[in-house]
Amino acid sequence: MNRNIKELVQQMTLEEKAGMCSGLDFWHLKGVERLGIPSVMVSDGPHGLRKQDDQADHLGINDSIKAVCFPPAVLSACSFDRELLTEMGTAIGKEAQATDLSVVLGPAVNIKRSPLCGRNFEYYSEDPYLAGEIAAAFINGVQSQHVGTSIKHFAANNQEYNRMSASSEVDERTLREIYLPAFETAVKKAQPYTVMCSYNRLNGTYASENPWLLTDVLRGEWGFEGYVMSDWGAVNDRVAGLKAGLDLEMPSSGGVNDLEIINAVKDGSLDEAVLDQAVERILAIVYRYLDNRQEESLNLESDHELACHIAEESIVLLKNEDQILPLSGQESIAFIGGFAKTPRFQGGGSSHINCFRTDSALDMASAAGYTVTYAQGFPTDRDVYEEAAAAEALQIAASADKVVIFAGLPDSFESEGYDRSHMRLPDCQNRLISEILQVQPNTIVVLHNGSPVEMPWRNGAKGILEAYLGGQAIGGAVINILYGNVNPSGKLAETMPVKLSDNPAHLNFGDGDKVHYNEGIFVGYRYYDAKEMEVAFPFGHGLSYTTFTYSNLRADKNTLTDTDTLTVSVDITNTGDRAGKETVQFYVGDQTGCCRRPEKELKEFEKVSLQPGETKTVSIILDARSFAWYNTALHDWFIGSGTYEILVGASSRDIRESIAVQMNSAQQLPLHVHMNTTFGELLGHPRTREYGLELKKKMNAFFGAPEGEERSESSSEAISDEMNDAMALSMPLRNAVTFGLCTKEELAEMIDSMNQM
Ligand code: BGC
Repeated sequence: MNRNIKELVQQMTLEEKAGMCSGLDFWHLKGVERLGIPSVMVSDGPHGLRKQDDQADHLGINDSIKAVCFPPAVLSACSFDRELLTEMGTAIGKEAQATDLSVVLGPAVNIKRSPLCGRNFEYYSEDPYLAGEIAAAFINGVQSQHVGTSIKHFAANNQEYNRMSASSEVDERTLREIYLPAFETAVKKAQPYTVMCSYNRLNGTYASENPWLLTDVLRGEWGFEGYVMSDWGAVNDRVAGLKAGLDLEMPSSGGVNDLEIINAVKDGSLDEAVLDQAVERILAIVYRYLDNRQEESLNLESDHELACHIAEESIVLLKNEDQILPLSGQESIAFIGGFAKTPRFQGGGSSHINCFRTDSALDMASAAGYTVTYAQGFPTDRDVYEEAAAAEALQIAASADKVVIFAGLPDSFESEGYDRSHMRLPDCQNRLISEILQVQPNTIVVLHNGSPVEMPWRNGAKGILEAYLGGQAIGGAVINILYGNVNPSGKLAETMPVKLSDNPAHLNFGDGDKVHYNEGIFVGYRYYDAKEMEVAFPFGHGLSYTTFTYSNLRADKNTLTDTDTLTVSVDITNTGDRAGKETVQFYVGDQTGCCRRPEKELKEFEKVSLQPGETKTVSIILDARSFAWYNTALHDWFIGSGTYEILVGASSRDIRESIAVQMNSAQQLPLHVHMNTTFGELLGHPRTREYGLELKKKMNAFFGAPEGEERSESSSEAISDEMNDAMALSMPLRNAVTFGLCTKEELAEMIDSMNQM
């Protein structure tokens, strides 16, 4: 339908317009009855619906409708499967149509800076490329049903501590390379109907009133067309927010902030056109939903099946020594740990779903006809070692052929609203796992956690399966993986460090009113690689019951320019005896020496399904951005000339093949030459290189022996050739005069001509 939104807005009174820019209550936008504008509803999100009926109270003390809890982001990202995420989004979009929701509040794409963030289970990855691709796929799915998404929390909201006031202090390059790209990709590839700004301040300014973030970058650079809403209660100064680009305040402010808008228009401090524009943006999205209403009914059972399938495609087999998995179905198996009976599959807070059904591993094993014995071993809700329960577990463990321990974090250990204080499982669980390993070497640990845990028993357990928080159908998915009905194919979307103190944000996380992102761009594997640090399990890692070989990595050109794309292909063969899927990961390493960059960064991935013995060629395209870094002098992306390595692997630490390509970039860094520019800086820039060479030669001679003479032994000892070189490189131009390499006038002329080049 072709609506004239502008005209509609012109018919609204100032009060109606101000009212349209904040919620009616917790979940509804206001309508304007007089003009036939209906009130629409939004709801969490992200991995299923948390639609509250009357008495809505935000934190979910009142139940929401029965719905399906799909795997939270922490698990679904491990699928590395865009199509699957689109399928999940489509199902959630249909549920939203069926229950009349105009916008689903998600996906949440904040980068996992530290394993301690209480909301990591809602976030996709430590890697911005992966997070952006997965988010775009999810958004495209939801919005294919004409239901909006609200990508959140924009931006640099990477902890829960003081989340409503703390300032994330992030330098420009780090923001552009790590914390913004997931939003950027999603906006450019999927155009979410809405963006939710975060609670925190960014370099001192509240995200909800940051014009650079909400307007210059989001709309100006990325082309965002929808409306920006606040996180619930994130508004600090409503009028400043509106001017900065915050269209909708959620939830209702009880009219307080609407009045501020009205007064500001009346006293002339707010241009009414700014208000009109916000209302137009909101109404355009409201009607995009209303004009495309679909007849849908809830298909909870089939969505449950889909939730199970997504979990199966995402669970990560971390370790499988002696091929302890899959279980054959013939051995005597003991399940230990209360999570076998009551899995922990979602986190606390705004994303918490009132599930219509939950599957436990124990029930699903018995439904599938597998016989297992069971002992609880430890409580799932607290950290208490219970002697009797532990003794029973040890006894059944000793007499079984194999033991599967279902370990994990209690609800109270991680949630929205607060961060974890450590990275450990409850001590009672670690203790019992170690004791079981003493009596039963054939032990597999299944983990239910929203973020990495230290695994002190990592070397002893033969099998480790990371089920994360996997949604309401996780029990069945775990059983299908354990017994080999499904071949695992998930890969870690984050690094699992050996211990918390290895994490790059360790000394700068939480705490205080300013959080300094001092580790810069070295987040996750970018840091662990640079430090050559041992990790428990690396980014991208995940095993299969079959094996894959990689061969014949090739590119369509050896030399390219900064406007070319590069097609890279590799052949993948399933060399085992089972069908399986492999996620082929493509990383790029900058060897131009232009600046400090991570050893390698993920730039593409493709999941491929192979029958035993089958070979497929995986081809991907790398574009200019795959090679670029963000230069703060240019305030733009920059591609340096030189060699880049293209690496392909099964994980960030399992690189199978690499090739080098030569980049001839037309881009040059700006260089303003002045009296204190060093000879080395001149040498490093193609424009001034010749001048640099000449000056360096003269300076070397100055420190060396006079023309035609040998240097004495003691002089060579005092100033070695290496020192001579180093000193020449760091010499400021002003010293060319004082050391007699040229006159002051000659130097001024030289500087002028270099700046004019
Ligand atoms: C959360 C958002 C959520 C909103 C509505 C906030 O506290 O940060 O992620 O969408 O509440 O429940």
